[in-house]
Amino acid sequence: CGIVGYIGHEDAKEILVKGLEKLEYRGYDSAGIALMNNEGLQIFKEKGRIAALRACINQDVMADIGIGHTRWATHGQPSRTNAHPHQSSSGRFTIVHNGIIENYEEIKKTYLPDVEHVSDTDTEVIAHLMDRFVKDGLDTEPAFLETLKIVKGSYALALLDQENTEAIYIAKNKSPLLIGIGEGFHVVSSDAIAMLQVTDQFIELMDKEIAVLKQDSLSIKNLQGENITRSPYRTELDASDIEKGTYPHYMLKEIDEQPLVIRTILSKYQNEFGELSIDEKIRSSVIGADRIYMIACGTSYHAGLVGKQLIEKYSQIPVEVHVASEFLYNLPLLSKNPLFIFISQSGETADCRGVLVEMKKLGHRTLTITNVPSSTLSREADFTLYTYAGPEIAVASTKAYTAQMAVFALLACDIGKLKGLDNDFNPLKELSLAANAMEVIVNQKEKIENLVWEFLGMTRNAFYIGRGLDYFVCLEGALKLKEISYIQAEGFAGGELKHGTIALIEDRTPVIALVTQQHVSASIRSNAKEVIARGANVLTISMEGINNESDQFTVPEVHEHLTPLVSVVPLQLLAYYATLHRGYDVDKPRNLAKSVTVE
Ligand code: G6P
Repeated sequence: CGIVGYIGHEDAKEILVKGLEKLEYRGYDSAGIALMNNEGLQIFKEKGRIAALRACINQDVMADIGIGHTRWATHGQPSRTNAHPHQSSSGRFTIVHNGIIENYEEIKKTYLPDVEHVSDTDTEVIAHLMDRFVKDGLDTEPAFLETLKIVKGSYALALLDQENTEAIYIAKNKSPLLIGIGEGFHVVSSDAIAMLQVTDQFIELMDKEIAVLKQDSLSIKNLQGENITRSPYRTELDASDIEKGTYPHYMLKEIDEQPLVIRTILSKYQNEFGELSIDEKIRSSVIGADRIYMIACGTSYHAGLVGKQLIEKYSQIPVEVHVASEFLYNLPLLSKNPLFIFISQSGETADCRGVLVEMKKLGHRTLTITNVPSSTLSREADFTLYTYAGPEIAVASTKAYTAQMAVFALLACDIGKLKGLDNDFNPLKELSLAANAMEVIVNQKEKIENLVWEFLGMTRNAFYIGRGLDYFVCLEGALKLKEISYIQAEGFAGGELKHGTIALIEDRTPVIALVTQQHVSASIRSNAKEVIARGANVLTISMEGINNESDQFTVPEVHEHLTPLVSVVPLQLLAYYATLHRGYDVDKPRNLAKSVTVE
């Protein structure tokens, strides 16, 4: 979910709706805004995309204060009733909330036994608690503080009080929230990109803090009511970075940006002598580790699988890669001197943060690899390495994944060099060759689009097979396809398919075979033959040097340990065109959100 708010002299509704459009990547199953002026407050909300909300807003309503929300359902199905804003029974308080109130059932029983709740959400209790505390005689701000002392969980929230039409009250715990400042106005937003339209100056709100925003003033306090002063910073984000330009979809733009991203990473991690340069503190924390635990979700987890190979190979440190949501249940026996690396495009993923918080309690060192400066995981870990991919807007991650792997290649070689290991791998040179190879592939879109017709047509399912590094890319290729085209897709280790899944191969079942690893190419080709013998329609994507004439697509030759950066590109494009042909929304697939700030 994402929230926005505006208090100033302009018409709030357009600023709020534009802001929500920019936050749609955080969730888009329903949306709403509340507009307040001296005559009262009006709420507009709708199930579905922001476009549906826009259509239902009465354009005649003028207000210079408002709050808004785009939702990714957790408690209560997507519906108009469950869409935010929510109101207290008296109608005095209106709120929008991102996060989860963990003890909402308990709050209902203990504090609100007679209050009728309109929605199924966990959020509504906050509005009702406000009613209760003001009835007890508290002013709005003390009532807000009392409410927040009771709620447990994560929240970024904004509150309007109809009896005080000159302020927005906001609060944060675990979910991100920024205050934007300008002349005669303040804005609030889950992400700076939503408010770049009006300002580039922001102040971060920290966990367990509240703020009261007025047109010309701002006060920040902790939950004990003590004042906090914090200076604003100017964001480096550029509004043009978050526009599609001439592209039909963000995903296609982001796929195309990958060669540039790799080159940017190379320039960011080189010193003036053209040598690899990584922060000394990060170097010593990695060198000092006897084992690295990588924690991530989704695509970032897949980048971790490749990162492990690079780090183990070039810096000779053992690495384990774990899915964040499972890590704490299946806690491995930790080594004496572990380093935890959190891989997260957004830097906000709640499952990762859950592990980070626990590992910090145990006193372990932590490093975040993220694309978003000053994101939660970056702020809370000891160190951060940025992936410099620029804002990634499409829900299906592409350039963030290749950027993460490039950063791992640099880190692995840097540490190896410091340890005096004899590596004949020059990552700066090899990555720049990989960037060139990516460029060759993105220029062959038509070829891939044609392969989609031939191989993915109207299929219900598809399998990806590979061995070694190719296997990890198969996992990512399958994830791309399923998340946006809704084709049921699975990635398999070539040798494993015959131990069960081969039973699913029928006449014309698409199987995409990746062949970029010389030492396993004969074996994976024989796996491809096994499925062909059972009727499969095999699309082989190979690398120059080990390709056969009959392979349908060949990627340029790159270093054998960097093939994932290159071989994933045709798989991203396959997913893109398969989705386009099925008529689905490429950038905003159903049920998904780009940044998952709930566990
Ligand atoms: C969501 C997105 C995925 C992403 C995952 C991890 O589920 O839909 O595309 O890979 O979160 O996100 P992160 O920002 O932590 O890399």
